[in-house]
Amino acid sequence: MEALKEIDANETYENDLPTDVALDCKAERIYYGDFLAVRDTHVPIKRNQITGFIGPSGCGKSTVLKSINRMNDLIRGFRFVGDIRFHGVNIYAANIDPVSVRRNIGMVFQQPNPFSMSIFDNVAFGLRLNRYKGNMQEKVEKALRSAALWKEVKDKLKNNGLSLSGGQQQR
Ligand SMILES: Nc1ncnc2c1ncn2[C@@H]1O[C@H](COP(=O)(O)OP(=O)(O)O)[C@@H](O)[C@H]1O
Ligand SMILES: [Mg+2]
Repeated sequence: MEALKEIDANETYENDLPTDVALDCKAERIYYGDFLAVRDTHVPIKRNQITGFIGPSGCGKSTVLKSINRMNDLIRGFRFVGDIRFHGVNIYAANIDPVSVRRNIGMVFQQPNPFSMSIFDNVAFGLRLNRYKGNMQEKVEKALRSAALWKEVKDKLKNNGLSLSGGQQQR
């Protein structure tokens, strides 16, 4: 429940959800401008399980996924009609900061987008942005170990992030 506190400590939680649902995604309609991309979709995502979206290209998988961490907010004409609850909290409520949603709900893109800077600086980017004052070296190593990438890159942290293979970039 730590994650919730970060999203909004003041929000009252709805306790009518089955407790095994971490994220309850009801997308009634999702629009890009006038184009109706997704309708009548309800996906309860259970905690501690892997859930997959399977469907033909263009059916709206990425649109739903991106709606779950409010990535689509940045797209002009995008409109979400529905209700997405993360541990009971409505992530589209007016008082919710989309940045805190993205801190709690991460996303790995089909197409990785490292910045054109060193591997180290790519990993340290978010820490610097948040003016992290601790041991940067340690944090970067920990992150790379968690992504099962440390052994492969520890001797070339100064190389450009774009020099990594596709799979390594994703990790
Ligand atoms: N940024 C966008 N602007 C307009 N239409 C979009 C945009 N992104 C996706 N679409 C359209 O929405 C539909 C669903 O796309 P998408 O969610 O990417 O499908 P999938 O991930 O299942 O292949 C498609 O018809 C696609 O062309
Ligand atoms: Mg897709």
